[in-house]
Amino acid sequence: MVHRITERLGGLAFGGDYNPEQWDRHVWQEDDLLMREARVNLVTVGVFSWALLEPEEGSYDFDWLDAHLDRLHAAGVAVDLATPTASPPPWFTLAHPEALTVTADGIRLTHGSRDTYCLAAPAYRRAATRIAGALAERYGDHPAVCMWHVHNEYATVCHCDRAAAAFRVWLRHKYRTLDALNEAWGTAFWSQRYGSWEQILPPRATQWHHNPGHTLDWRRFFSDETLAAYREQRDAIRAHSDRPVTTNLMVPAYQVLDLWKFGREVDFVGIDHYPAAPGVDAAADIAFGGDRARSFGAGKPWLLIEQGTNTVYTSDGTLGKEPGDILRHTVGHIARGSEGALFFQWRQSKAGAELWHSAIVPHAGPDTRIFREASATGSAVARLGELAGSTVRARAAVLHDADVWWALDTRGLPRTGSDHHDSLRRAHRALWNAGVTTDFAHSADDLARYPVVLAPSLYLLSDASAAALRQYVAQGGTLLVECFAGAVDEHHHARLGGYPVAPLREALGIRVEEYRPLAAAQALELSDGTRGTHWSEVLRLEGATPVASWTSGMLAGQAAVTRHQFGKGSAWYLSTRLEEDAYAALLGQVLAAAGVGPEIADAPPGVEAVRRHADDGRSWLFLLNHSDTDQRLPVTGHDLLTDEPVGHHGLTLPARGAAVLRQG
Ligand code: GAL
Repeated sequence: MVHRITERLGGLAFGGDYNPEQWDRHVWQEDDLLMREARVNLVTVGVFSWALLEPEEGSYDFDWLDAHLDRLHAAGVAVDLATPTASPPPWFTLAHPEALTVTADGIRLTHGSRDTYCLAAPAYRRAATRIAGALAERYGDHPAVCMWHVHNEYATVCHCDRAAAAFRVWLRHKYRTLDALNEAWGTAFWSQRYGSWEQILPPRATQWHHNPGHTLDWRRFFSDETLAAYREQRDAIRAHSDRPVTTNLMVPAYQVLDLWKFGREVDFVGIDHYPAAPGVDAAADIAFGGDRARSFGAGKPWLLIEQGTNTVYTSDGTLGKEPGDILRHTVGHIARGSEGALFFQWRQSKAGAELWHSAIVPHAGPDTRIFREASATGSAVARLGELAGSTVRARAAVLHDADVWWALDTRGLPRTGSDHHDSLRRAHRALWNAGVTTDFAHSADDLARYPVVLAPSLYLLSDASAAALRQYVAQGGTLLVECFAGAVDEHHHARLGGYPVAPLREALGIRVEEYRPLAAAQALELSDGTRGTHWSEVLRLEGATPVASWTSGMLAGQAAVTRHQFGKGSAWYLSTRLEEDAYAALLGQVLAAAGVGPEIADAPPGVEAVRRHADDGRSWLFLLNHSDTDQRLPVTGHDLLTDEPVGHHGLTLPARGAAVLRQG
């Protein structure tokens, strides 16, 4: 569906959040000129405009928005029209105090920021659907509108009584009987047996560990509730408009949504991405976010809806971008399947909560490095139009599962030294360092198209998924499974008789008898000279051969890393955490066994290579130089960014620069 946007734009998208209501006529005139200069062709409008659009309950003021949409259309700029529901106006919260967020500690928040609502509160849902429908009725066919942007970064979780009531409805639908729920949650322990549905509450603050079945179902419920809220708005829009509808998902280190489910309900995947570290780490993070976005959309092209031009807020304060980053980060997203790049925001606010957040037009105006770099990036994106609709073909997949993420995020578990997100990132980073293009996949998917699959974090595994993985190996796949895998089922019940669950155990040719976390500072040597940290397991070999064994401690002489030929494929098991170099070396063996190599051979350090393919046989090789030195590369093609041919003498890729070579 994203092709409907690129067709309308006549190329890839470039632009950002545009909040003209913060400015006056004089600035709007300058915006029109500067947007042309920066080659902006798509802006997100209205994302936080609820108080202006509906100044009082049920009474709308669209005149100001009419004027902006008409002006933008006349200026040749298309609109990604947002529903403003991430920031309800003060009148809403005063009229519906029961729809305000309640934290797990039982504190009811009040208005004064944004995202302060309960997604399960009927009053909020009605108001959100109403404003979405009213906008669609008015602008559904407006020639400026080329897509819809529902809400903003769904992530608010609420523990109020309305959420509790909706949770019970969800649970009744899932379990039908209280006996089934009590069994699934293991309420026989700690005297938690529920005698009526009304006794069940959200997992609010309590004295000691929550019940793990309870918290897992709560996370699933809130994700489903959020998706239902999205669907209501989407359907209200679809009643009046045929333009594609999506939302800007976040793919950060915390996750309250099952992004696989969201990917199936949006017309195309849109994400926001703000790297939390500078330099090469930012580049790896962009690849990580882009590969996840593409995968959640089943490999189809997607859209980067927000990134920053410069300073962004991170958990450690603010982080600035280096010269060249705006272009390289933008091209990095496009390389992984984005059909363009939008920024938060067009013009830096002079007041309000995010006045220090960067923008395309900074406080200092257009005569600035940032505006010049952003404009040059707009021109570069305009030269990439021919690759719209092309896709990325990955040879490796990393398994990603919201249930595993949430199950591991439970108090009272032994610690492997890494949560789901970190494990995914580590595996992806190792593949990225090796130059291998990677998808994410779910363990229940058909994985046959990937020669190699990594399962760095597979704590929870259903019988069906375990059987699918066994089949994947039997039919010729290469699978690397890491420690603490297949330990519990989908109800968070431990697997009995040895871990992991039987079908996976057979494929791996091992049986785990005991988990033995290592002390924080402990690093135990393995027979190949590498070291295991954080975790160890008592393995019994049931067909597998050892790749490396422990050399000391209680497990001396016993296998730590194994390999098993199973059917036409092979399954590897890593029962500890390896240090970075050792992990990379093990991955090198696994990739070699699967016959998977990098996109280009012998890329110099700091050079990233990834390719987009068209169905007609053309392809585009993206080359990104994250290092501080120019790099020579033995490649040929036509560089779309410079519009120059690259002949048999090869390409000099400037320090912190990028090239996009049309080949074939
Ligand atoms: C995004 C959000 C924007 C803005 C931005 C700042 O997460 O959607 O509205 O707040 O962060 O980085």
